[in-house]
Amino acid sequence: MNLLTQIRSLFEPALTALAPDKAKVPDYLAAIKPAANAEHGDYQANMAMALAKALNRPKEAQQVAKEIVAALPANEMLEPPTVAGPGFINLRLKSDFLAKALQAVATDPKLGVPPAAKPRTFVIDLSGPNVAKPLHVGHLRSTIIGDALVRILRFLGHRVEGDNHLGDWGTQFGILLYGYKNHRDDAAFKADPVRELARLYVTIKKQFKKEDDEEDGPTDDPIKKACQEETAKLHAGDPENVALWKLFMPACLEMLRPIYERLDVKIDHALGESFYNPMLPGVVEDMLARGIASESKGAIVIPNAKGVVPRTEEEQKKEEPPAIIRKRDGAFTYTTTDLATIKYRMDTWKPDAMLYVVGAPQALHFKTLFAQARRWGYAAVEFQHLQFGSMLEPVTKKKYSTSGGGAPELDTLLNDAARLGRQRFEESVAERRAHGHEVSDLDTTEVSRIVEAIGVGAVKYADLCQNRTTDYVFDVEKMTSTVGNTATYMQYAYARCRAIFRKGEIDEARFRASPPPVLVTHAAERALALQLLRFPEAVENAAAEYLPHLITAYLWDLAKSYSVFFENCPVLKAETPELKDSRLLLVDLVGRVIKQALDLLGIRVVERM
Ligand code: ARG
Repeated sequence: MNLLTQIRSLFEPALTALAPDKAKVPDYLAAIKPAANAEHGDYQANMAMALAKALNRPKEAQQVAKEIVAALPANEMLEPPTVAGPGFINLRLKSDFLAKALQAVATDPKLGVPPAAKPRTFVIDLSGPNVAKPLHVGHLRSTIIGDALVRILRFLGHRVEGDNHLGDWGTQFGILLYGYKNHRDDAAFKADPVRELARLYVTIKKQFKKEDDEEDGPTDDPIKKACQEETAKLHAGDPENVALWKLFMPACLEMLRPIYERLDVKIDHALGESFYNPMLPGVVEDMLARGIASESKGAIVIPNAKGVVPRTEEEQKKEEPPAIIRKRDGAFTYTTTDLATIKYRMDTWKPDAMLYVVGAPQALHFKTLFAQARRWGYAAVEFQHLQFGSMLEPVTKKKYSTSGGGAPELDTLLNDAARLGRQRFEESVAERRAHGHEVSDLDTTEVSRIVEAIGVGAVKYADLCQNRTTDYVFDVEKMTSTVGNTATYMQYAYARCRAIFRKGEIDEARFRASPPPVLVTHAAERALALQLLRFPEAVENAAAEYLPHLITAYLWDLAKSYSVFFENCPVLKAETPELKDSRLLLVDLVGRVIKQALDLLGIRVVERM
């Protein structure tokens, strides 16, 4: 149950009765929000001012607020609302209602989150690394954010097809082909093809005049040009290059596998660019036949889409270019492949929405692509480019270089985090021992499981915990901090919940199968109960706006309420057995909600830390 939705449904008939223009009711309902200041109540309804204006009684907002309150149906949910200031309606949930609602949540495996009223089908385009080179940090962000969105939408009952649009056919293969033909070490390739290809990639990139140059266009750089020619031969079906491509692919995919495994990310499909290659001529012909594309100086071009309103200033500055779908030399482009991909996805999964989790530099590409796809006939589907900012290097606070040599490999980043995870774990054990607590020795596999969960969790959480569009500094120290809004802190909070049950030798199953009544005897208990009931709001908002950080923000609030509760309300030493049971139920729910919320972000918990 979503509290906010419930409250809105109490207000809806009252507002419909009072509003002169019924079409405005959704706007009025949207003005019911969680109270910014807990002293004013739990929620606040701020539509009286707008409604008073609509009723031509602009000076009587306070009176209108009272009329709204008087028109609310009798209910078990709210204390009598109060009207403050110019017409704010302050809402406070009855403690009795909170207690009963929470008891119901305890028996729900989804912890109160209702299934989507209208389940939709989503295709999420995530990760999309260029497989012939070491995975760089930009793809880490796409993988982590994309996976979180897959999990969140699926949890709400939507159908989600995750698709890894691998760059397995482009420029980088030219680099490998050129490198393999001119610089290969046969023995090294035989012993470890993955490593040898990675070496060749870096070696050749270093020979480019500008190492970072990834542009596809004409060049006067002889090495780059030679690489481009290898790519062109591959695309033209040259038997030698095609055979080498087939030889390289398994090694390239093998470079990625351990990273996905380590990140705990499973992507349903991996239909890379090469998959669409046979469909490209058909796309161009169809575009020509429908008069969407035309010939221009030997190339096939889709002209500038008219009537597309730029959304940001940056977009406004750049004039939307026409898209080339077949170059003069006959080569197809990134756009042609993306158009073929859209058609394939529509034919195969008939999605309602296609979400692309790709870095901000591709904004123009996607804006143009979506406009073309709509003109091509895919007008009803929701296309979204879910952009994200850059990951910045901790010392210089600048972007990581994307070239093969400069950016640290992902494994290195994850190893750094796991190393600090181990340090945190050892500190915590030492500290507890110093305080005279008994800490049992864990075997080494258990310890590695814990430090890996801390390390990988820290990296993911740091990525997810701010608005995805902002840049952030990859600061492992901060990520694994045990204070503040980090995965480590949440994992601690979870382990602390579990420790209470261990210490009291209590089986939590009883609290889930037939939960005891919740007693609200202290402000901290009430605040915690309310926070637990707000989990559905967090998940639904994160899904509606495609913003996973709304879940981490929720977790942070929950952890804070839990900490206040923990300081003020003894659990195992509660005054009565009933109170002890009630508080154990709260503790169990905190643990379950943290675990579930972290799972939606792809982060593991551990039973002890
Ligand atoms: N391989 C691309 C890159 O690294 C990302 C792919 C994004 N997805 C897409 N459908 N274009 O830039």
